[in-house]
Amino acid sequence: MLLKLKHKLVIGMMKSLAGLAPGQSHLAFTGPGSSRELCQYLINQGYKKVLIASDKILRDLGVTDQGSQTLLDAGIEVAYFDDIEPNPTFEQVEAGKQVLRAAGSEVILAIGGGSVIDCAKIMSAAATSDDDPRSWVGFGKVKHEVIPLYAISTTAGTGSEATAGAVITDVQNHAKVVISGASLLPKAAAVDPRLQQGLPPAITAATGMDALTHGIEAYISTWERGTRKEHATAAIRVIFDALPKIYADSSDHDARAAMAMAAYHAGMAINQVNVGNVHAIAHQFGAYYGVPHGLANAVVLPYVLEFSKGPAEAALAELADLVGVAQSGQSSAAKAQAFIDAVKALNAQLDIGTKIEPLKRDDHDAIAKAAAEEAVSYPVPRFMMPADVKAMLNEMTV
Ligand SMILES: [Fe+2]
Repeated sequence: MLLKLKHKLVIGMMKSLAGLAPGQSHLAFTGPGSSRELCQYLINQGYKKVLIASDKILRDLGVTDQGSQTLLDAGIEVAYFDDIEPNPTFEQVEAGKQVLRAAGSEVILAIGGGSVIDCAKIMSAAATSDDDPRSWVGFGKVKHEVIPLYAISTTAGTGSEATAGAVITDVQNHAKVVISGASLLPKAAAVDPRLQQGLPPAITAATGMDALTHGIEAYISTWERGTRKEHATAAIRVIFDALPKIYADSSDHDARAAMAMAAYHAGMAINQVNVGNVHAIAHQFGAYYGVPHGLANAVVLPYVLEFSKGPAEAALAELADLVGVAQSGQSSAAKAQAFIDAVKALNAQLDIGTKIEPLKRDDHDAIAKAAAEEAVSYPVPRFMMPADVKAMLNEMTV
């Protein structure tokens, strides 16, 4: 009960604080080749020294160079930090900060998926502060000016290029923590489907389901704020259509371009109202077992929707209409169920299962407690107590 009360207080406080905060906006370059436009924009801004944050796989594949070619051609002094791994840690943030300071870079260009962009966000904040980044864990705690950050997303999933939040793994405490603050929103982003063409189908599927989760969690949120519904519907409608197409045929460029924009819209939606119970549980699977974020969300999503379908019925019924799975004359409850069934069918179509393979029963108590505590700060239609999470974990365990 205490947890439920805390949830009410935290959400109330967040809503009043958000009302006082200035609105956030940033520049977006979109469409095939837009990464070149973003680089040209950096050159026009007069930057001479750029740190490129990326990962080894993308550098080896040539994607990092492809995204930054315009800078290289213009003779901009470029330094690289490409040690960012999936589920980035505070140690990686510190290492990146050292590279940034040694190179004297004026700006960071992140080229990668959510892990790269999230790590770069906290590097940008750490570079201008002597505080321990661990002290920023929570909602809106980064308040200082950061090194300007620009982002090019190489997956159609996390939407991190459109948000003012980052998820970092705290290795010592076995936890994934969220850090946010208005200055963490990238100053400009490029949504360039050409840089996403080489994604293997399994990663396309998992990252795409992360984007769908963002859209749905923002849509069923209890926080009426900004354009979250418009952005969420723009994302959800497209994902149901485009994601199975690019999973089946990675050369479907139209679907790839649509999916890139959908993930960006979903990011814009969660940037206004945050995520929900699905992420609260999925983050634990990342912290405990290193399960990729998108895959964890994809598996958890139907369980949380079943759990939430009472209070979220009207919103889920609207989504059934949106994606065309509702029958005329159906009750609102039947429509809500049709939407949940459509999410399950989409997972099956993408060869995503219903279990978290490494999940151990011995960890259920700790994971349930951590997930319920994380959800305290999310404006969810149905708050979950640790016992509720445990019931879901039981079903997800092999
Ligand atoms: Fe996510």
